[in-house]
Amino acid sequence: MATKKYVKDDLTVIWKPDLCIHSAKCFHGLPQVFNPSARPWVSPAGASKEEIITQIKKCPSGALSYELNSSTNETMENQNDITRITVSNKGPYLVKGKFVFVDKDGKEEVKEGNIALCRCGASANKPFCDGKHKSTNVLDA
Ligand code: SF4
Ligand code: FES
Repeated sequence: MATKKYVKDDLTVIWKPDLCIHSAKCFHGLPQVFNPSARPWVSPAGASKEEIITQIKKCPSGALSYELNSSTNETMENQNDITRITVSNKGPYLVKGKFVFVDKDGKEEVKEGNIALCRCGASANKPFCDGKHKSTNVLDA
């Protein structure tokens, strides 16, 4: 599915559906902005820019990101000098920080923010998790 963008003043919320692992963190954390039952499902008018950015940074997969369209065209800020890789319980590897991502063809890309890597082998969007681990139950821990 194509990337979607939602604009509020100088803030653009970016959603990449293919990376979403349906963790529900966004709509549990800020339901007045992220509501899967509404169309569009993202309503940036529902909260302040700061609240939205804080919530976006909690998205574990990187499906949500943002740009500030004013001066610096800022994307995800560096949150930590140390890159963190967390093995989530019965779920993907959660990578958070700044890192070089090398794809299967050897193409390198410097990334910053969050990504979720499939640990169960069932994702249709490998190497990224697409939430399938929930239905396959391959991971027992
Ligand atoms: S992965 Fe991100 S966009 Fe998808 S439901 Fe979780 S917090 Fe929301
Ligand atoms: S770990 Fe989520 S689809 Fe494999």
